[in-house]
Amino acid sequence: MNFELTNEQKDIQKLARDFAEKELLPQVRERDESGEFPLEAFRKLGKTGIYGLPYPKELGGMGGSYLSYILAVEEISKVDAAFGIAFSVDTSLYGGSIMNSSAPDEIKKKFLAPITYGEKIGSFGLTEHSAGSDAAGQHTVATKDGDSYVINGSKCFNTNGPLADYTVIYCLTDPELGTKGMAAFVVEKGTPGFTVGHVENKMGIRTAMVSDMILDNVRVPAENMIAKPGEGFKLAMKTLDGGRIGVGAQGLGIAEGAYEIARQYLMQRQQFGKPLNKQQYLAFKMAELATDIEKAKLLLYKAALCKEEGQPYSIPAAMAKMTCTDTAMKVATEAVQMLGGNGYMKDYHVERMMRDAKITEIYEGTSEVQRMVISSHLGVK
Ligand code: CAA
Repeated sequence: MNFELTNEQKDIQKLARDFAEKELLPQVRERDESGEFPLEAFRKLGKTGIYGLPYPKELGGMGGSYLSYILAVEEISKVDAAFGIAFSVDTSLYGGSIMNSSAPDEIKKKFLAPITYGEKIGSFGLTEHSAGSDAAGQHTVATKDGDSYVINGSKCFNTNGPLADYTVIYCLTDPELGTKGMAAFVVEKGTPGFTVGHVENKMGIRTAMVSDMILDNVRVPAENMIAKPGEGFKLAMKTLDGGRIGVGAQGLGIAEGAYEIARQYLMQRQQFGKPLNKQQYLAFKMAELATDIEKAKLLLYKAALCKEEGQPYSIPAAMAKMTCTDTAMKVATEAVQMLGGNGYMKDYHVERMMRDAKITEIYEGTSEVQRMVISSHLGVK
């Protein structure tokens, strides 16, 4: 076992950290108020090829490691978790759907290469109003018509939905068969009948664009079908396993960002004649949070390595997601408390981090769904 990052991983970590500090930090508070997604910055980071980092070069990616991608999401999310989820959905839910699919290589390349460099943005359409934690409860239907399929229905809580050039739509080709009749298609922006519905006004991750997507007689060529009938549900589940490692990285980044703000504050703030970090209660609290962060990091990096090395990773991903996101919520909440009145104010960032942390325990499978996934394997050694 080796705990040392490779040079490639350190380089990506530094690239993402420098970008976050120079390009995202200066306006992060203002963006949180306005809710405006930093599209220009997203495209700028894309020029490095980072959104296709973990996918093979011959399919339009950068041929890097999954852990490198995870390190990048972690660094970005220390500063701007809303940007972190836009990145993670683009790479691991949209890009992951393409990569995990049985589509021919030329189709994979067609739909992957443009997202690698941020020229196009991807989104993932699984959730419906009737299909949240119970992802099998789908109502969107695709009907074959000659050389194409006609899709009708709607999706909700689509991260990147209003921005996306490509959205993977999971839907039923045979509603009688339930999950065994599910397929998946890439639907391109501008396809007649495919529109952005209600755009959500959220508690946190304020600048991530999340919306309903409406499909009204949307005709897509059969070649856009990336999962054949019967393969769609498994593709969604496998892709979510990878996505959950990305959300884990987002959670870990929030926890580390909030921890660092609290650490610096405790060292400079004097009360009762000494800096707060010399108060044993607060010093012990920081020791506990530092240990929580380290535990979460070990689970997260292990899950990324399992994926990278072709080992089973559903359970490691669920454990990492559950732990990292609960740690994000705990550390951000404690940071607000440790900063006292200042922590409640927007200038110190930790109240935003606390709001951002909450959604990480919910999307891409709630903490309860992660417990379902982990407990379903209790009988398996
Ligand atoms: N990989 C591959 N196949 C899998 C799998 C996996 N990880 N998990 C299950 N499957 C297969 C099973 O083997 C089974 O196959 P067979 O029919 O051949 O036996 C099939 O899928 C059905 O499996 P289950 O019976 O276990 O499925 P279920 O209906 O009980 O659902 C669940 C299980 C884990 C609760 C699942 O519904 C789930 O993950 N729910 C949460 C959904 C979710 O995370 N949604 C987030 C959407 S994205 C988002 O959050 C928005 C955003 O943009 C950020």
